[in-house]
Amino acid sequence: MNSGDLDALLVDARNFNRQNAITGVLLHSGNNFMQCFEGPEDAVQQVYQRILGSRKHTDVLEFMNLPIQKRTFSDWAMGSATTTPSELLALSTAQWSQLTSELTFSPFTPPGLAVLQVFWSMRQSSH
Ligand SMILES: Cc1cc2nc3c(=O)[nH]c(=O)nc-3n(C[C@H](O)[C@H](O)[C@H](O)COP(=O)(O)O)c2cc1C
Repeated sequence: MNSGDLDALLVDARNFNRQNAITGVLLHSGNNFMQCFEGPEDAVQQVYQRILGSRKHTDVLEFMNLPIQKRTFSDWAMGSATTTPSELLALSTAQWSQLTSELTFSPFTPPGLAVLQVFWSMRQSSH
């Protein structure tokens, strides 16, 4: 995927996300992506189906799907950042929960999400 392809993907994704109150971030290193998105449960499911249905990628893995009390990326219809391979590796191998949305809200931030929050806030302060 070249940068034009990525821009087009982000325009499409942000349009849909804005209309459906979805916020989140998309990180990419070469051909690998990692994405986190949040919003009303039915909209989250719709976005996930769109992503699964896209012909632009293969091998989608779900790390975490659970209720949250507060959004992390409330200002971002879909923020985007390039990472190094090792940053993406660290983020994707951090401890993400396998818990599903049947569980009740937990007051604890899963470690993987905590690492992603720190990464994103460091990115914001360096730009
Ligand atoms: C890495 C990646 C991230 C995506 N993120 C979103 C998203 O946040 N919101 C959304 O509505 N669609 C998202 N999509 C779906 C694309 O917008 C999708 O490309 C679009 O539905 C058109 O399908 P196509 O890729 O088969 O042409 C994503 C797709 C990819 C490959």
